[in-house]
Amino acid sequence: MLSTSRMRRDFAARYGPWALVAGGSAGMGAAYSRQLAAHGLNVVIVADAAHPPDGLAREVAAAHGVQTRPLVVDLAAPDMTTQIVAATHDLDVGLLVYNAAHAVVGPFLEVALADKLRMLDVNCRGPLLLADAFAPRLVARGRGGIILVSSLSGFQGQAMVGTYAATKAFDLVLAEGLWDELGAHGVDVLAFCPGATRTPAFVATNPRSRGLVSAPVMEPEEAVAEALAALGDGPTAIAGRTNRLGALLLHRLLPRRLLVRFMSRTARAMYERRA
Ligand SMILES: NC(=O)c1ccc[n+]([C@@H]2O[C@H](COP(=O)([O-])OP(=O)(O)OC[C@H]3O[C@@H](n4cnc5c(N)ncnc54)[C@H](OP(=O)(O)O)[C@@H]3O)[C@@H](O)[C@H]2O)c1
Repeated sequence: MLSTSRMRRDFAARYGPWALVAGGSAGMGAAYSRQLAAHGLNVVIVADAAHPPDGLAREVAAAHGVQTRPLVVDLAAPDMTTQIVAATHDLDVGLLVYNAAHAVVGPFLEVALADKLRMLDVNCRGPLLLADAFAPRLVARGRGGIILVSSLSGFQGQAMVGTYAATKAFDLVLAEGLWDELGAHGVDVLAFCPGATRTPAFVATNPRSRGLVSAPVMEPEEAVAEALAALGDGPTAIAGRTNRLGALLLHRLLPRRLLVRFMSRTARAMYERRA
């Protein structure tokens, strides 16, 4: 069994010296920032003005003796890549984690088009642009990693979160393709698929019952620890044993129409307003 310091050294040698966490200041994003620093990586923490990452960057640097660089960038902004590349041009970024998401819950007809388009921008355009910007450097070095955070919602269509689920399917499929293509150049890519996780964004959706058969809500720290452990070990990882078992059973046993109906019923139980 490898010692903790050996694992830390190996992880930093493969994915360091810098990681960039897009959407890195709250919930799972903050857990990525903290845990990557605990693995010995310096961390660029990107977040928007709603939760500026300066305080977390100071905390992480002090707690783990690494360097941090907080960046306030709206990942939906047309020039976000230019801003991020300019602010990190002097850093050797070996790991990109795209964690940010815009998620608006509700019937398709009631979600504003502006929100649907913002989900497309933050959840699809953002990871595509940053993967496009950073992958050439990783390939040139012959080592590094990319984690695109998808979701259990990305495996099928689902009522109440139709657009969000479709964006998460994009992340899943993009990461899997990159896993094969960039893997040939020594770059590990992972589509990470959490289920319900107790982040500020999840709590803000105000979920009610999650149906009779639902996995327990995970804590951000446990989900992120699983993502970092799974990096380099296959194209896709689902967070949590119960989520993995549930996904296996649902996807293997149910015909597609029943799967979509089941997942839609679960989403309605969580989010549909009672009259
Ligand atoms: N939580 C769950 O139950 C769950 C389940 C399945 C999948 N996921 C996926 O896991 C990831 C993280 O989960 P989470 O959404 O619960 O959030 P989180 O990790 O708690 O926080 C997301 C971070 O992204 C930032 N962010 C969002 N939009 C941004 C933008 N336009 N520009 C810059 N930063 C932005 C947020 O900052 P602000 O708060 O300041 O906007 C926050 O720091 C997402 O990809 C989500 O789809 C979550």
